Amino acid sequence: MQRRLTVVGGMALAEDVARNWEQIQNFQAREGDVLIDTYPKSGTTWIQEIVDLIMHDGNEQVCRRAPIYERIPFIELLHLMKPGIEEVNMMPSPRILKSHLPMHLVPPSFWKHNCKVIYVARNPRDTATSYYHFDQMLLFHPEPKSWESFLERFMKGVVGWGSWYDHVKGFWEQKEKLNILYIFFEDLKKTPLQEIQKVMRFLGKNLSDETLNNIVRLSSFTHMRANPMANYSDFPREILDQSKAGFMRKGKVGDWKTLFTIRQNELFEEHYRRQMGDCSLTFHVPK
Ligand code: A3P
Repeated sequence: MQRRLTVVGGMALAEDVARNWEQIQNFQAREGDVLIDTYPKSGTTWIQEIVDLIMHDGNEQVCRRAPIYERIPFIELLHLMKPGIEEVNMMPSPRILKSHLPMHLVPPSFWKHNCKVIYVARNPRDTATSYYHFDQMLLFHPEPKSWESFLERFMKGVVGWGSWYDHVKGFWEQKEKLNILYIFFEDLKKTPLQEIQKVMRFLGKNLSDETLNNIVRLSSFTHMRANPMANYSDFPREILDQSKAGFMRKGKVGDWKTLFTIRQNELFEEHYRRQMGDCSLTFHVPK
């Protein structure tokens, strides 16, 4: 792996990912496909597990048939790991797929077929915190070095998959026009049953309260962390080095307080206002 970023479509992206750019942009979505799209570290794996559980009526055994990244393939990584493009092309419909691409770079075939998109946003301080820890493990991203320098790069959008600000705004602004369900990590944490019901309705499913409560339990942080089919423990080591820390880190709201200094928080707030001032999007993060 290269541990270097390049720029594609105005967005910073790992060189190892960008070299397959044409195939990524030409990805052929089909009618009925569901796309889970997020900025990295926003609860992607969490919503993936929830969606798989909903689609399989809360059946725990079926959802342990394979690791989460095989059940729900990541369209930017099909050239780097299994499943590859041929396997994904052969998957039966409806396929559930994952991407971190911003709104303007989602492969056009998803829009052509009016595919459903589930977008999860997480408050930027916790996203940056989680990303800083993750980039120490992700071997196709530059090493984050100090927290201070990583935070600076995060604010400038010089991290994998580009600017958090553009990402969350891009989907927010299109959500009424397109088939997009926009939900928040913080709401999933606070009222999981309610959010899981939203996802269920969006997917056109109707599950009993008992099944839904079981999905809340099966998708909890404690449960997923202990589940080898959801916790990334078998993810290819040449891409993700988990020798020092695991993928399932803390799963909390407010962990940013362990890293941000008072000064960094003030500068961040100022920068945030400038970037997000024109947008109605708000995050509900308890103080
Ligand atoms: P932390 O690093 O803050 O712990 P992604 O899947 O987009 O890479 O996001 C990973 C983040 O989501 C990590 O955050 C991880 O711990 C958290 N996460 C994963 N599953 C979760 C769950 N069931 N409940 C809460 N947080 C979860």
